[in-house]
Amino acid sequence: MAAPSASPANTVPRTLDSESSRMPFVVAIINQKGGTGKTTTTINLGAGLAYQGYRTLLVDMDPQGHTSLGIGIDPESFTESMAEVMTVPRKDIEDVVLATYIRGLFVAPSHIKLARAAELLYSRMYRETILHQALQHTDYDYVLVDCPPALGVLTTNSLYVADFIIIPCQMSRYSLDGLADLLTTIEEVKNITLEDLFQEDFFRILLTMYDRRNRVTNEFIMEQLKPYLEKTFGAIIMKNEALNQAQIAQKAVFDYDHSSTGARDYYLLTQEFLNLCQKRKSLPENRRSLRNMP
Ligand SMILES: Nc1ncnc2c1ncn2[C@@H]1O[C@H](COP(=O)(O)OP(=O)(O)OP(=O)(O)O)[C@@H](O)[C@H]1O
Ligand SMILES: [Mg+2]
Repeated sequence: MAAPSASPANTVPRTLDSESSRMPFVVAIINQKGGTGKTTTTINLGAGLAYQGYRTLLVDMDPQGHTSLGIGIDPESFTESMAEVMTVPRKDIEDVVLATYIRGLFVAPSHIKLARAAELLYSRMYRETILHQALQHTDYDYVLVDCPPALGVLTTNSLYVADFIIIPCQMSRYSLDGLADLLTTIEEVKNITLEDLFQEDFFRILLTMYDRRNRVTNEFIMEQLKPYLEKTFGAIIMKNEALNQAQIAQKAVFDYDHSSTGARDYYLLTQEFLNLCQKRKSLPENRRSLRNMP
């Protein structure tokens, strides 16, 4: 199936309030392990939010560029990307943002050049703050940042700016092994203690690729997860081929097969995420789209 074509964001009418610049609510989707469902979650939670009427930006911080590709942005359709936003002289992020085929859903695409840009960042002062600076004065309700499978400077930039963190964990034997390292990195970048990290509603683990038939593995993971149960989303993403196929078709699962298990799971995740955001005290009062929720 042909991918929907990209168009510059500034040619698409803004669906929500654009009268003032404000800092959006930023969610980093992080796990240093590869293949845990970060990109799938970024795309489908992002689409879920956009379909609920929220102006949403996906920031692809992975040089692999899978988020951009997965939502229908082919690499030939843009010349500048997050690589230029993260390099001196810095490009304004709005100059690289593209509209996707979903109304209200935008993407700041990535390119393999972002890997080189990240190397150059290591010698710079305040290197963790660049994404934060780039997102200031942007006009979105939500920004979802898809991180690469590493705890390098691209991930620490994403952590630094994040208001909330989603940690997708695949249901496999070693899936929770790196969790302690990841939480330590969050503590360091955010300059908070582990107790604060648990007390504040700051992160959630998301179980992905759950297969009911793998009873022994599932029981093992659930046992390991016990200390983190309160910090785990109730929504679980089942293993579902429609999610794989949707990525190949470069679409959100809601558009590829809206009756699939994957579409149901990501719809439930979107609802749970929005409920959580409504409860959070730190959510700025002026998020008017939240007030428009049914
Ligand atoms: N719930 C699921 N059921 C079936 N397949 C899935 C599911 N979630 C993700 N996948 C598939 O698993 C693969 C890895 O998923 P994804 O790209 O989202 O992981 P990732 O964490 O972003 O990987 P990386 O660390 O390489 O960036 C993809 O082919 C994706 O289509
Ligand atoms: Mg990925």
